[in-house]
Amino acid sequence: MTEFTFDAPTVIRTKRDGGVLSDAAIDWVIEAYTHGRVADAQMSALLMAIFLRGMSNAEIARWTAAMIASGERLDFSDLRRAGKPLRLVDKHSTGGVGDKITIPLVPVVMACGGAVPQAAGRGLGHTGGTLDKLESIPGFTAEIPKAQIRQQLCDLGAAIFAAGELAPADRKIYALRDVTATTESLPLIASSVMSKKIAEGTHALVLDSKVGSGAFLDTEAESRELARTMVDLGTEHGVRTRALLTDMHTPLGRTVGNAVEVVESLEVLAGGGPEDVVELTLALAREMCDAAGLDGVDPAQTLRDGTAMDRFRDLVAAQGGDVAALSADSLPLGAYSETVSAPHGGTMGDIDAMAVGLAVWRLGAGRSVPGEQVQFGAGLRIHRRPGEPVAAGEPLFTLYTDTVERLAPAVSELDGAWSVGDRAPATRPLIIDRLT
Ligand code: URA
Repeated sequence: MTEFTFDAPTVIRTKRDGGVLSDAAIDWVIEAYTHGRVADAQMSALLMAIFLRGMSNAEIARWTAAMIASGERLDFSDLRRAGKPLRLVDKHSTGGVGDKITIPLVPVVMACGGAVPQAAGRGLGHTGGTLDKLESIPGFTAEIPKAQIRQQLCDLGAAIFAAGELAPADRKIYALRDVTATTESLPLIASSVMSKKIAEGTHALVLDSKVGSGAFLDTEAESRELARTMVDLGTEHGVRTRALLTDMHTPLGRTVGNAVEVVESLEVLAGGGPEDVVELTLALAREMCDAAGLDGVDPAQTLRDGTAMDRFRDLVAAQGGDVAALSADSLPLGAYSETVSAPHGGTMGDIDAMAVGLAVWRLGAGRSVPGEQVQFGAGLRIHRRPGEPVAAGEPLFTLYTDTVERLAPAVSELDGAWSVGDRAPATRPLIIDRLT
């Protein structure tokens, strides 16, 4: 296809005016953007038009296929363990606040005998990214060559890697969406998640589609439609895909940020940690083991007997991380902190996940320009979760950053995002539904 057949202004205008992009136009714009023949400014305008006008299912399927075709598609079908083909299984979340689940989940599935090729992402908008969190471990790298990914899958049962050459179109578009307020779009989320996951060569996939204020999409109906769209895309590409719809009104666990979330994940791997983080880790682990055909395994036992912790340490060491630094004392924590205390006694009400996500982003845990270095020590600790008793003057939140000027705007972001009342807030199920 030549540059004379298509041009960016016409493609942008078509979508801006509510039209449908042809297969050929989608193939062209993704290929041309990947290779620098469509400018960031033009792709930003197109993303905003897609954000405002949406896409049909056929357009989403083609956009996803074009992003897969922009790079290589890994194939692990030749990998064997004890003479048997490896059944690869992975998980991906649509993005949440305090969503550190991949960190304990991958070693649990490894300890159950699974093999997880996890192409992980960086922070997006108000949500954190697994890679930004794991890179807070000194030495840890997700930039690992393909041969190492294959070796780790056979020998250890997992590799956590930057998508790199997988769906490079998504890598560029993802970074652009992060700084152009175009993250909260069903077609863009579905195609972003599924292009990476289909290209990474997994055989089975469990999706965690978030519902609530901290999710990218506002309503349960939209999160359900997103999950349905992604399950169908996976199935069409031969990946056995299922999804859980899970609550994201309140942040997961008691920490939000980079290194602070690794510390909380270590607590879970040591058999403790917040109940909601443990519950979601185990629910997703059961789905993954089932999807991978691992019979007679007990994910909860791997947290009790320490085997999941052992697998995590193996994984960190294999990817260059310093296992001696895996403790709250050694991982980075912002040099400046501020604590928000209870004005009076009572019971902690709901905590708005979106406000907490934005506060942590303001502390320096996320980016406001592409490629910006995040602060590993930036984060927030939640001392009282919804429904817990609070005494007057007790700490409710502590915020950490390495840039003192960031504290005040982050604290303001929490204004109105929490309350202390005289009765517990209504409880919501963490796991709302399951789609296959
Ligand atoms: N995760 C992704 O990989 N992409 C999105 O757009 C949202 C979450």
